[in-house]
Amino acid sequence: MPEYLPTAPAKGTRDFLPAEMSVRTQVFGHLYDVLELRGFLRYDGPILEPAEIYERKSGQEIADQQLYTLTTKGGERLALRPEMTPSVARMIAGNAKSLQFPVRWYSHPNCHRYERPQRGRVREHWQINADIFGSDSANCEIEIFELVHDMMSALGATPDMFQVRANDRNLLSSALTDIVGVTTEQLPQVFTLVDRWEKSDRTKLSDTATEIGLTDKQFEKLTEILSSGSALLDELPEQVKENSNLVKVLNSGAADLITFDPMIVRGLAYYTSTVFEVFDTSPENRRALFGGGRYSDLASLFTSQQIPGIGFGMGDVTLIDFLDTHGLTPKPRSEVDVVVIPVTEELTDASREVAGRLRKAGLRTSTPVELRKLGKELTRADKAGARAVVIVGQEDWDAGNVTVRGLATREQQTVALDGVVEAVNSSL
Ligand code: HAM
Repeated sequence: MPEYLPTAPAKGTRDFLPAEMSVRTQVFGHLYDVLELRGFLRYDGPILEPAEIYERKSGQEIADQQLYTLTTKGGERLALRPEMTPSVARMIAGNAKSLQFPVRWYSHPNCHRYERPQRGRVREHWQINADIFGSDSANCEIEIFELVHDMMSALGATPDMFQVRANDRNLLSSALTDIVGVTTEQLPQVFTLVDRWEKSDRTKLSDTATEIGLTDKQFEKLTEILSSGSALLDELPEQVKENSNLVKVLNSGAADLITFDPMIVRGLAYYTSTVFEVFDTSPENRRALFGGGRYSDLASLFTSQQIPGIGFGMGDVTLIDFLDTHGLTPKPRSEVDVVVIPVTEELTDASREVAGRLRKAGLRTSTPVELRKLGKELTRADKAGARAVVIVGQEDWDAGNVTVRGLATREQQTVALDGVVEAVNSSL
């Protein structure tokens, strides 16, 4: 017996067969429309980037555990992109002279992270990225939060189905240092601890806090501030709040787009102030749908010019889970609208001519490649989701006619060739 290779894709990666691809095309098509409507322009870039750009800016989790790296024959160390933000920062920095800021760009890359596959997490995922570059204004935050809501609404989601939880890392730093008494050296580790807060059990969190050097009392205080919601804002110094774009949003007419949540800190290292995540309100889906924030100096990897950015990545896995859970997943499209069936091989050219007319009128049309009995062709057309067939018989054809049959209505009519488009349209 020959030993066959597995037909399953590599662990943590997925095949998308046509039915699934059709659902995805519809879903992403709605999202591209929303982005284009707001003036976001689509870009793309290479899947391979120098490993260093992630090692220097994305943070330890990505650099140490999740990066797929390779060394080329020429000795370059490259990585499969785990995310798009460093790539887009590179493109913006490299083309800054010719760009008119603020720049609104979006992309839809596949990203690779070596993670343990589980619900909401795979090793290759697709991410819609949308970012605004070149402005420090809180209006960027508002625009990004509005965009999130527009994208969700374009998919049929209502506000009760999801929550946009936002924070500002500077507000959290202030709370941690001024209220909990965390030292500057401890701050990065405490941020990582906060990022794990909802994913770990309390004993583990408390053990990690002890390892970082926090006392039991400090751990209690930390627990208290993280669950205090917007009440925390009253305890923070005015000066810190004055400089916060997030506080500006919370004091504006756009406040209801978000929920202030001190627990949101995000795992990536480059965020400098605003951070946010979008969650499904259904407990079945615990992983974030979107993650994003503001990064004021990511472009500094590539240029001395200060180019702030703010944006998000929306993942396909959690999005499809969300749509399934809420009954919002669109149906796959059928293969074709119409099948044109010649009764004999001799009528193949005739049926190609009919099919050509139908396609010109925008009807998705196929013809059999290997002719079988009419009954079998009708069953096949039905299974392909066609709503009509056109039967081309010799006698009809000689008289300049064809027969149109509605597959749902089962009504059949013989029409002149010139009337075939109209007859098919009325039988759909
Ligand atoms: P992120 O939070 O790492 O952010 O990823 C964004 C979203 O991508 C997540 O909320 C999740 O939906 C999805 N995602 C991430 N990793 C996986 C995975 N292993 N499997 C399935 N889905 C995943 C970023 O990547 C930032 N670069 C986003 C950004 C753009 N920030 C500013 N601009």
